[in-house]
Amino acid sequence: MKHTAKDADGAAGTAGQEPSAPLGVAVVGAGYWGPNLVRNFQSSPEFRLHWLCDLNVDRARQVLGGYSTVQATADYAAVLADPAVEAVAVATPAGTHLDVALAALRAGKHVLVEKPLAATYEDGLALVTEAEERGLTLMCDHTYCYTPAVARIREMVRAGELGDIQFVDSVRINLGLVQKDVDVLWDLAPHDLSVLDFILPDHVRPVAVAAHGADPIGAGQSCVAYLTLQLNTGAIAHVHVNWLSPTKVRTTMVGGSKRTLVWDDLNPTQRVAVFDRGVDLTAPQEIGVDERRDMLVSYRTGDMVAPALGEKEALRSMVEEFAAAIRTGRPALTDGRAGLQVLDILEAASRSLEFRGAVVGLRTGR
Ligand SMILES: NC(=O)c1ccc[n+]([C@@H]2O[C@H](COP(=O)([O-])OP(=O)(O)OC[C@H]3O[C@@H](n4cnc5c(N)ncnc54)[C@H](O)[C@@H]3O)[C@@H](O)[C@H]2O)c1
Repeated sequence: MKHTAKDADGAAGTAGQEPSAPLGVAVVGAGYWGPNLVRNFQSSPEFRLHWLCDLNVDRARQVLGGYSTVQATADYAAVLADPAVEAVAVATPAGTHLDVALAALRAGKHVLVEKPLAATYEDGLALVTEAEERGLTLMCDHTYCYTPAVARIREMVRAGELGDIQFVDSVRINLGLVQKDVDVLWDLAPHDLSVLDFILPDHVRPVAVAAHGADPIGAGQSCVAYLTLQLNTGAIAHVHVNWLSPTKVRTTMVGGSKRTLVWDDLNPTQRVAVFDRGVDLTAPQEIGVDERRDMLVSYRTGDMVAPALGEKEALRSMVEEFAAAIRTGRPALTDGRAGLQVLDILEAASRSLEFRGAVVGLRTGR
């Protein structure tokens, strides 16, 4: 089942109401990504950051600086015991997400988890179930879904401006940090897969995946991977992720029966371009085979439009969405179920890799 949160509004602090008191929050994990959450929680009027917790307390202290009133700690139990903490944001490695997030939910806290939601589908499902049973917000930070570009793409795709979706092609390649605990698929593809889930209309969904990968440098896991998704409509989506590319490319093409859109995240002056160009098939006619081949296909070469997009940091919108979901009780735009959908595809893709590209069906027949 597709999660139903996507069309809810539910902005916190609507006109005529008293502004709500800030929500007490703690961040767990002060490594590479945690400081970005710290900065955004601290600058949001929706939250008051009380704790930054890391096994390495010196790292947490360093992130906060000498004059912060936020407490640095390595004692997670103390964080969870603090009644001022209503929400916990988890920015620890994926393998720890289950333990850290489950403990927070069991302590009655709302939880934001960095992508991927968990290390396995089963772990992710345990988190979703726990949150649903307790009536707590569980959100996954699928950061790209909160960029102005992706918000606009979602609007256009779901409003039918591109027509029926025919193909999606996503490339995310650069000289990346070769990770110890995850392969390139689990490191980079969550971004593309979460965007795919976010933008597709409710009736369009991936049903099966085939993945190919290679480890040409002997890193012990795939550093280059190609993932092909079959959609229930007969359309196809492809994701190319690569840690070994000398150039950085971040491009997603969404092809529709009416228009085709190109999102180039590295082009700030024209991040999204919509092409009124494509291929049409005209109705078959009673003509000879050779003529018919020529006649059936026609090409449209219309205008290209680059929509104006606002500039807003994705994490700022993400943090606002977390607050809105907590305050209204509605599922977040990228809720636990959206995180689960990504895990379903990643696990199926890993199985496909083991079987050299065999097509593997997805569990979530939404
Ligand atoms: N949204 C994005 O675009 C984005 C980008 C990068 C990373 N991430 C995600 O953020 C998460 C963290 O990645 P990272 O690159 O910052 O990792 P990292 O290894 O740099 O940092 C992780 C930190 O967590 C701490 N830690 C580990 N286990 C802990 C525990 N049980 N309790 C408290 N602290 C603990 C470690 O000491 C370390 O400081 C991952 O899930 C990753 O996928 C998301």
